[in-house]
Amino acid sequence: MKITVIGTGYVGLVSGVCFSEFGFDVVCVDNDVEKIIALQMGNIPIYEPGLGKLLLKNTKAGRLSFTSDTRVSVKDANIVFIAVGTPSKSDGSADLSHVYQAIDDLASSINKDAVLVIKSTVPVGTTRAIKKFLLDRGVELDVVFNPEFLKEGAAVEDFMHPDRVILGVESEKAKQVLSHAYRPLYVFNIPIIFTSLETAELSKYASNAFLAMKVTFINEIANLCECCGADVNEVALAMGLDKRIGDQFLQAGPGYGGSCFPKDTSALEDFADKLGVDMPLVNETIRSNENRRGKMVEKILRACDYDIKGKNISVLGVTFKAETDDMRDSPSIDIVSELIKHGANIRIYDPSFSEQAKKIFSNVIWGKNAYDNCNDADAVVIITDWSEFKALNLKELRNRVKNPLLIDLRSMYPVSEVMSSGFSYCSVGRYFEKLEF
Ligand code: UGA
Repeated sequence: MKITVIGTGYVGLVSGVCFSEFGFDVVCVDNDVEKIIALQMGNIPIYEPGLGKLLLKNTKAGRLSFTSDTRVSVKDANIVFIAVGTPSKSDGSADLSHVYQAIDDLASSINKDAVLVIKSTVPVGTTRAIKKFLLDRGVELDVVFNPEFLKEGAAVEDFMHPDRVILGVESEKAKQVLSHAYRPLYVFNIPIIFTSLETAELSKYASNAFLAMKVTFINEIANLCECCGADVNEVALAMGLDKRIGDQFLQAGPGYGGSCFPKDTSALEDFADKLGVDMPLVNETIRSNENRRGKMVEKILRACDYDIKGKNISVLGVTFKAETDDMRDSPSIDIVSELIKHGANIRIYDPSFSEQAKKIFSNVIWGKNAYDNCNDADAVVIITDWSEFKALNLKELRNRVKNPLLIDLRSMYPVSEVMSSGFSYCSVGRYFEKLEF
């Protein structure tokens, strides 16, 4: 089976590499020529654990190649996946211009027996509209919608062992072709669910909005914990043990970011609005998450007695979450920028050494490691939940800082452990910080 994947962002590149690992012949396409040249030389443009090894292995085996020539790449393909970006427009709606550009590019050359699969996250009705767009150009194709649920930082594992595969299909042939493509997953008993196009499209937005709401809910519970003597980590544990709730996405923090939750919740809000359907839970999730960053700045300022002008603040972690170098819509962008506005001297260490972050924060000092970054600090602020920040040697850190104040926006430490190492500790969703400050 020959597979072409158009778009080499997170979803496209991971899907292409993983399908080649399944044993299929895969061509990955992108109109960014420099990116394609880099990929042909084995250089991956993103930080994604495990992806580089699989890319090299499958390129070497001759199953995986890269090109910027869409027309040639789709000629013999049995399946063509569209995995280009659908960023937010200024009104919150999804920008589908890359999707339609890709469809337009392939329309005249695609093999007429191929199945076209939309993997980009698109508003409900788009797949059907694409089918019509092609028909209007005299091209009659099976068009499928196949949402991708992989997470950055665990993308290969999520692709290889997904919780489910959702396929919006309208023909028996498309069902068979896609069943063959995902057959390697049958050995793990992964549910493969066939639905209508609209159901598959909405299932993606509904899943991301629900997870975003879950994160926002626990962040609001954290606010309450800070005022009533409860510990949010323990509340989350107690809630998560109920199988109906589940223990994931209940970690309180600085609010969700990244390229998906903010974009997809806004697109869902816009889409529901256009249909005249009220979705107050989604609306409030977006607003509450937007306000969260200001609350985090207030928390840091309060912990520092509103006196950070000329003070050294050591920031640990700026990517939107751990195990990625992705800075898109990271809470750190707003938080650190505010601290800079208040006159703080910022020093940042991020384990990904993110180039995106270096472009965003051009006037800060970059640390080589967490300890070096904390030398002479008046306050240490953890923003991203990188594993290496979960077990810092606090005694060693204590010897390096000027003022032992740890502000942990991911609440990664037991309060007593930090206090006994000589630090004042300010975290998220614990009453102790109220007693302290
Ligand atoms: C998310 C979804 O989890 C994937 O299923 C989906 O495929 C992807 O979007 C997408 O649409 O492409 P991702 O954006 O990589 O994946 O990141 P998540 O792990 O979901 O985290 C999103 C944000 O929520 C991060 O800022 C993270 O720090 C925050 N978060 C997550 C919390 O604050 N607490 C939690 O308990 C979990």
